[in-house]
Amino acid sequence: MKIEFIPASSVSEAPGAVAVLALEEGVLSFAAEELDQVTGGAVRRAIAASRFKGKPGQTLDLLAAGGIIAGRALIVGGGAAAEFTGEAAESFAAHAYQALKMSGAEQVSLMLPGATADQAAQAAFGARLAAYRFDRYRTKDTEDKKPSVQRFTIVCDDPKAAKKASAMWGALADGVEFTRDLVSEPANILYPEEFAKRVKKLEKLGLEVEILGEKEMKKLGMGSLLGVGQGSRRESQLVVCQWKGAKDKDEQPIAFVGKGVTFDTGGISIKPAGGMEDMKWDMGGAGAVAGLMCALAGRKAKANVIGILGLVENMPDGNAQRPGDIVTSMSGQTIEVINTDAEGRLVLADALWYCQDRFKPKFMVDLATLTGAIIVALGNDMAAVYSTDDTLADNLLAASKAENEGLWRMPLPPAYDKLLDTAAADMKNITGVSGGGSITAALFLKRFVNDVPWAHLDIAGVAWRKGSTNPTVPGGGVGYGVRLLNRLVADNYEG
Ligand code: BES
Ligand code: MN
Ligand code: ZN
Repeated sequence: MKIEFIPASSVSEAPGAVAVLALEEGVLSFAAEELDQVTGGAVRRAIAASRFKGKPGQTLDLLAAGGIIAGRALIVGGGAAAEFTGEAAESFAAHAYQALKMSGAEQVSLMLPGATADQAAQAAFGARLAAYRFDRYRTKDTEDKKPSVQRFTIVCDDPKAAKKASAMWGALADGVEFTRDLVSEPANILYPEEFAKRVKKLEKLGLEVEILGEKEMKKLGMGSLLGVGQGSRRESQLVVCQWKGAKDKDEQPIAFVGKGVTFDTGGISIKPAGGMEDMKWDMGGAGAVAGLMCALAGRKAKANVIGILGLVENMPDGNAQRPGDIVTSMSGQTIEVINTDAEGRLVLADALWYCQDRFKPKFMVDLATLTGAIIVALGNDMAAVYSTDDTLADNLLAASKAENEGLWRMPLPPAYDKLLDTAAADMKNITGVSGGGSITAALFLKRFVNDVPWAHLDIAGVAWRKGSTNPTVPGGGVGYGVRLLNRLVADNYEG
């Protein structure tokens, strides 16, 4: 879909299907008011004849009204008549797209006279996220099964300024889409080497990308990560991305680390068949870090940022790791692998240790689809954050609020840490008690951060959405974390 900005003109001349905003209590936006006038009062009559109340996301179709070129006008609810924010513009555009995508309209004119350039740019961002669709393997869709909208035209006061402002938003949308694509790809297509290859392509944005294979990781002593991948025919990979956007290229960086299990069968502790296909998105943490790096480089963020991806496939095989095996991590700490399905923490143990050892970052944030337990606790709208640093946690929560990506802080009680102790090694990878599974997974990770300020996001519940509840998040790969972390960087670590 092509998204463009054109100068504000009369609603009667706007091409395609026009979309206008109407608020609660019968308050019409400037464009909706104009539409009402040129159609001889059709907008107010249509509202009166329907249950349209102007609630956010409510829509009302006005077909073949006189006085306008457009055959279809869409009235979109915008909620209470408060200040019109960027988020409101984003949501207006996304709702308009969702309501019109299958309507047959090939062009949409989103009426935003009076909005700022940045609001117009954020509207374009909303339309782009809304129009995301992973359809590369659908070869038999007939035209009427595909979205009809080809051009999304934002009608605004200063299209030039809007276009300029949309460069930033465009980079962020690129990042979210990059993550969504990675998360959506099946595991026969996206395995560690293929994932690494796709990230390597981001070098064209000015990122430095190194790829470590099994030989290099073995030299580094990453027995914990390598143990997870040893049952797979696919080679494990560690991807190290560096974005040096700060004035001083040697300034201490900040770092993000992602769990990238391209498929999680559970290994020898094999998962039940039902729903196992979901484990193609067990690389959502690494996917988010990759998307974040794409966004930061795309918008030339003024910060030094490291992104590390631990990429493995967890398979049962003659060479697979067994329950009871003891592995030695890069930190030197030994781990008794009681359950081969608790593999994400084993991958992150080495990725986190490597990150702090090599880069000495200001802080590390890891993202991982780590536990089913967090889905029990927080469901599908909230990720968990665990942190050893209150400022970092607060900054993450503030960013979560600003970007509408749900996040809830969870505790790291020292008493639970003891549950990881075992007689045979320095620790075991599961506790053996049934409660607090997401917390004890976080406490396991904490043993590998070596006192660097750290936060862990358990995103098992939010990386994938069955169906859609939010117009900018169609079903499937969400791209959770890209917006949130981009905001964390922008608000706290640039300039
Ligand atoms: N990748 C899973 C966690 C997961 C479950 C993510 C459902 C998304 C949806 C993880 O590797 C796992 O298998 N965790 C186990 C841990 C258990 C063995 C201690 C779990 O949560 O059951
Ligand atoms: Mn697992
Ligand atoms: Zn997993």
